[in-house]
Amino acid sequence: MISKQTIDKIFSTIRVEEIVGEYVQLKRAGSNFKGLSPFHEEKSPSFVVSPSKQIWKDFSTGKGGTAISFLMEIENFTYPEALRHAAKKYAIEIEEDRQEFSEEAKIAQTERDILYKIHEIANDYFQNILWENEEGRSIGLSYFRERELKDDIIRKFQLGYSPEKKNSFTEYAIEKGYSKEILEKSGLSIFPENSPAGIDRFRERVMFPIHSFSGRVLGFGARILKNNIKTAKYLNSPETEIYHKSNVLYGLNQSKQAISRKNVCLLVEGYMDVISLHLSGIENVVASSGTSLTTEQIKLIKRLTENVTILFDGDNAGIKASFRSIDMLLAEGMNIRVLLFPEGDDPDSFARKHPQDYVEKFIENEATDFIDFKAEILLKDAGTDPIKKADAIRNIVKSVSFVQNALKKEVYLKEVSNKFGLSEQSLFNELDIQKQITQNQTQHQPKEQQKPAKLEIVPQQAELEDSVQFNIIHQENKLIDTMLMFGDMVLERQDANLEKYEITVIEEILHHFEDENYEFQIPTNQKIIENIKIGIENEEIRAGNFFITLMDEDITLKVADALLSPDDLSDWSTRNIFPPAIGDHLAAEVEANILIHKYYYIHLLIRKMTADLENHRENNPTAYFDSIKKIMMLTEFSRQLATKLEWSPITKV
Ligand code: CTP
Ligand code: MN
Repeated sequence: MISKQTIDKIFSTIRVEEIVGEYVQLKRAGSNFKGLSPFHEEKSPSFVVSPSKQIWKDFSTGKGGTAISFLMEIENFTYPEALRHAAKKYAIEIEEDRQEFSEEAKIAQTERDILYKIHEIANDYFQNILWENEEGRSIGLSYFRERELKDDIIRKFQLGYSPEKKNSFTEYAIEKGYSKEILEKSGLSIFPENSPAGIDRFRERVMFPIHSFSGRVLGFGARILKNNIKTAKYLNSPETEIYHKSNVLYGLNQSKQAISRKNVCLLVEGYMDVISLHLSGIENVVASSGTSLTTEQIKLIKRLTENVTILFDGDNAGIKASFRSIDMLLAEGMNIRVLLFPEGDDPDSFARKHPQDYVEKFIENEATDFIDFKAEILLKDAGTDPIKKADAIRNIVKSVSFVQNALKKEVYLKEVSNKFGLSEQSLFNELDIQKQITQNQTQHQPKEQQKPAKLEIVPQQAELEDSVQFNIIHQENKLIDTMLMFGDMVLERQDANLEKYEITVIEEILHHFEDENYEFQIPTNQKIIENIKIGIENEEIRAGNFFITLMDEDITLKVADALLSPDDLSDWSTRNIFPPAIGDHLAAEVEANILIHKYYYIHLLIRKMTADLENHRENNPTAYFDSIKKIMMLTEFSRQLATKLEWSPITKV
């Protein structure tokens, strides 16, 4: 875990305008910056960054937050991934909190850190050789150029070259102080009995670094250059502490933004397929690197999109083996399309033969859904044999049985029924049989624990339209926003004896909520209040800046909402127009807003009591008269409040 000190250091060092500026072209607008939303196609800017508040807000999608939450949105990072990324950019050293770990775990973590580091060093080394070294340039670089790769693509994928010399990298790493033990563990070097100086695993090969989702080098794929040699074309890093093949997809780091923007992920087989598609401007692509797809890999894609298009070589022998991947994708709730390239082509050769438009259109138009795809392949084999044909249909229904969503399942089944002219009923029966088979097969395997879906208690639309409910929520939000924006401001007040006293905005509003024993309508507000209370117990005022580093998604969005308004998009000051700032009349505003909130809250209480009246009248006369008394009291109180607020009393409640 990253220590609290490091997190604080990161938040106090990073600049939101610099981090966002790497993705969005920002223009000054008064004290803010504005630009086009990176999350949404648009012509006029609706995206604001405030350097003074260190937050951003995208008015077109409603997203907003800190520099860290921006990285989480745009790169699809987890919170720790985003922190690490920012720390790296600002050269902040990450301290880990390891108190809660055992000695053994601490050592393991340090070892993982060293393994990451040595891969970073190896990656720099191989690239350096490719670009700067004589052998690297004449063999490695010219190989890539022969394959028509441009320099920027070679750099984007950080391709490199490992020299012919037996231990050139091992020697370099040992000189840098890395132990034989760690070199061996990294899979980069081998130390046989008869070669104490060690041997590089990768020699005379072009190097393809394999990155994690967040961009750390985990291992390498290395391609031999001579075609006629008997050894395997690709040599890959072995499984290590940091590299688990089944958890990694090649190209994910370079493609993730395009995948999430295009909302579809192209799935290919090889390193070169990914790179060539990028070269032709198609950047939403990853490779399973020759292995069959795993659930973990699918979950990585699912962070970005639920749509996958599988691209196959025209002469791929393994298509039938791929049926398993289709079923797995369906079981994970993905929508799949499948594309077969013309005979003799793979994505790499096809992309180099045709212009980008053509390739894009081809993928878009030629990809079929998995039912058509399986049908085409299986029926071709079945010919006219009715038994084989039935088998083929059963095989397709089996895939449909993996679809989790009931509605989707039905749509697919209808499609199969139309396609083969079979009744839906018989297909449903078949589906049931398949279900039983699958259940029996999985009976003895431990079931993955199902997390209950996150339940959000959001007021229903019908209730929202109800004005009392709407007003109370609106006013509750207003008070919370005020706490976030001006929480630490000190107000001057007079008590009943006309004695002056000082109180912070946070305390004044909090006292009001506590006095009323108020029940929050919005869970996020409740969360914020709980945090504020903990703060007060620790003699700490928690306002906007505190919540910004708290990194609760709902809360940061709320803070950004509170601290930035659409007015921030325009440069008012240059036109000499200043929007009225709430802060200007803070003391009066806070007082009024508390009273208005109280007013609506009383109405809510009156309504609840009125609703119970009928009930009491029949069963409990005492409670009935009590309630009537209370309602009258509250109504009178509300009238007084309205007068105080100079409103005309609302009679209808
Ligand atoms: N692969 C591997 N080991 C091999 C052969 C293949 O790991 N001996 C993996 C690699 O990830 C490779 C993928 O399977 O990228 C697909 O194999 P192939 O189509 O043979 O490779 P290409 O990427 O097309 O390589 P190239 O175009 O350079 O021949
Ligand atoms: Mn190829």
